[in-house]
Amino acid sequence: MKILVATDKPFAAVAVEGIKKEVEAAGIELVLLEKYGEKSNLLNAVKDVDGIIVRSDIIDAEVIEAAQNLKIVVRAGAGYDNIDLEAATAKGVCVMNTHGQNSNAVAELVFGMTVMMVRNMFNGTSGSELMGKKLGIHAFGQVGRNVARIAKGFGMEVMAFDPYCPDEVMVEAGVTPVKDVNTLYSECQFISLHIPATNETKKSINYDLLKQMPKGAVLINTARKEVINEEELVKLMEDRADFRYVSDIAPAIADEFKTKFENRCFFTPKKMGAQTAEANINAGIAAAKQSVGYLKDGIDRFRVNK
Ligand code: 3PG
Repeated sequence: MKILVATDKPFAAVAVEGIKKEVEAAGIELVLLEKYGEKSNLLNAVKDVDGIIVRSDIIDAEVIEAAQNLKIVVRAGAGYDNIDLEAATAKGVCVMNTHGQNSNAVAELVFGMTVMMVRNMFNGTSGSELMGKKLGIHAFGQVGRNVARIAKGFGMEVMAFDPYCPDEVMVEAGVTPVKDVNTLYSECQFISLHIPATNETKKSINYDLLKQMPKGAVLINTARKEVINEEELVKLMEDRADFRYVSDIAPAIADEFKTKFENRCFFTPKKMGAQTAEANINAGIAAAKQSVGYLKDGIDRFRVNK
């Protein structure tokens, strides 16, 4: 049996070592394909493998079709919008993510980018503080919960909107649940996005929602660029000189943002949220264990295409 680790953005070397150990201890061969660039390299590499471990790498119907022996794909991370679930299900391929394994890393970046923005990119001018300010967490999953924990340390007042999360979970975390997304945006100067990219959420963060944010608004996106209606966000930032946007996923029209709002936007050059040794180790080794568990014993906890 073979498991392929296909990561165009590689894991830390120490994580790769850990993955190799897990897989080989189970008597399974590990194949490593990093920084592969062209899709044809991926198509070639998947031909005879039983399992694939990926990050944001695109596993579409063509890749699934090319992998004739494929039984499992594990997304070492949270969002699995890069995997064609329908094509996988049609071929009887199990798809999993690694629930919560990289969430602290992403949550810490939320504050790294936010502090940098409210301190005016450290340009020597007076900025502002987070203490006492209201933070709205849009979707209270694993990353949202870590963001709440850290925000409390900053002395922020934290609210969250998530129709899929029971109020008790938020209350226990010291977070005020809000029942209506408009309340979250109209109350909070800071909004941190943690919604997945789905047909329902794509472009859902739009002008009408964002315009409700109080003066000095900062929108923080460590989720997906697809959830933003980029043209409408540009319009809003043209209309409101106080509005700022930081994102771990550069918009499709990043150049337009940078030209128009030089000091009011920041985008990491590459998605960096989960790019820590700790997150790579946690997510990578969990992915290895889940792949082995499925291939050897049929354990399908964390399956997302039931
Ligand atoms: C995730 O969905 O887990 C994060 O966006 C991290 O993605 P990455 O593994 O591509 O950095």
